[in-house]
Amino acid sequence: MAVNSRLPGFYKLSPAERLSAATEASGLAVGDLSSLAAPAPDILAIADRMIENVVGTLSIPVGIAANFTIDGKDYLVPMATEEPSVVAAASNMASVARLHGGFRTSADLPIMVSQVQVVGVADPRAARLRLYEAEAELLALANEQDPLLVKLGGGARGIEVRIVEASGATFVVLHLLVDVRDAMGANAVNTMAEALAPRVAEIAGGRVRLRILTNKADRRLARVRAVFDRDALGGADVVGGIVDAYRFAAADSYRAATHNKGIMNGITAVVLATGNDTRAVEAGAHCHAAASGRYTSLSHFEIGDDGHLVGTLEVPMAVGLVGGATKTHPAARAAVKLLGVTSAQELAKVVVAVGLAQNVGALRALAAEGIQKGHMSLHARNVAAAAGAIGEEIEAVVARLKTGGHVRFDRAEAILAELRAGRS
Ligand code: MEV
Repeated sequence: MAVNSRLPGFYKLSPAERLSAATEASGLAVGDLSSLAAPAPDILAIADRMIENVVGTLSIPVGIAANFTIDGKDYLVPMATEEPSVVAAASNMASVARLHGGFRTSADLPIMVSQVQVVGVADPRAARLRLYEAEAELLALANEQDPLLVKLGGGARGIEVRIVEASGATFVVLHLLVDVRDAMGANAVNTMAEALAPRVAEIAGGRVRLRILTNKADRRLARVRAVFDRDALGGADVVGGIVDAYRFAAADSYRAATHNKGIMNGITAVVLATGNDTRAVEAGAHCHAAASGRYTSLSHFEIGDDGHLVGTLEVPMAVGLVGGATKTHPAARAAVKLLGVTSAQELAKVVVAVGLAQNVGALRALAAEGIQKGHMSLHARNVAAAAGAIGEEIEAVVARLKTGGHVRFDRAEAILAELRAGRS
């Protein structure tokens, strides 16, 4: 069944009603998404297998972003985040892009790269060429390590050999390029790099030190573009404000860090919800932002002929569907099911689309009413709850917190005390 990501009034439902509505809209069976709502009974045992010295688990809210159309297909997008306004902003901007057909994407083949560092080479330039001469042998050796990956159509595809001049040393660095198919790929490429190392050392005439993937992942880019409707954004001045905000980020690394953080609010939330490695994706993204030698904006904005905002984003996207927490964590499995993606490349495309929507959402708020207004409602609820408000008290405290100006814990406590005194 084709998914319909338009869920009018979704935000007004209770969490349980939202789960049923999302299950129905995505054509899944009742219960398919239940792990998103309640942790599996054996979650501690699962966690105990995932990392060391486990004592418990930490719950992060999972919301569903609506309205996403990506390459003509609708998606309901699970997002795991502790930050208010993120899911709402992504959903809103997806509906603004939807007016112009949604998001258009492309993704490179899932090529990951591992590095083998060779030290103590007497003739680095000649060693570099000796390694290239042995490429076929090295690729065959790499592929012997992972027959399943080769059977699935992946495997080692090529090498690159670089000479890295470091302070006081020259390293010969072999890159092994591997098509990791639907895996994130760290395990596959690290195993291959370790297996190649003795032969690489022999050919290069040096000693191998590191054998590990690079999180730069610039062979595995995902790209997205979308047109955001001028009027739905709030008019020409808001569009102008967004473009000025982008130019600021493009020119200034202090602003670029925050601008890109807004993009990562969306990206990391989907990466985390699907059990992928958030730090790997973040490292790759920030490295890409500095690819020119100067840290700058990951996204770009232009104003189209018709006055609408045209946004583009390109980010390395090392995410997978097989292996790791994506397969072992029940909530991550349910998140992938909800998304309905069938390849790592398709997941990468969804992730970058959310990143672009998130970026526009933040810039729109900054260019229009300012970021605090949107943040404040949920923030006020958190503050009210932290001050001890329960049930209906929460909304009563929020209303008075918001009218009184500053949303602060001490004010919430005082308001709550007044409310309770008035009732007793
Ligand atoms: C807050 O989490 C993200 C923003 O700071 C991003 C931005 O400034 O573009 C609002």
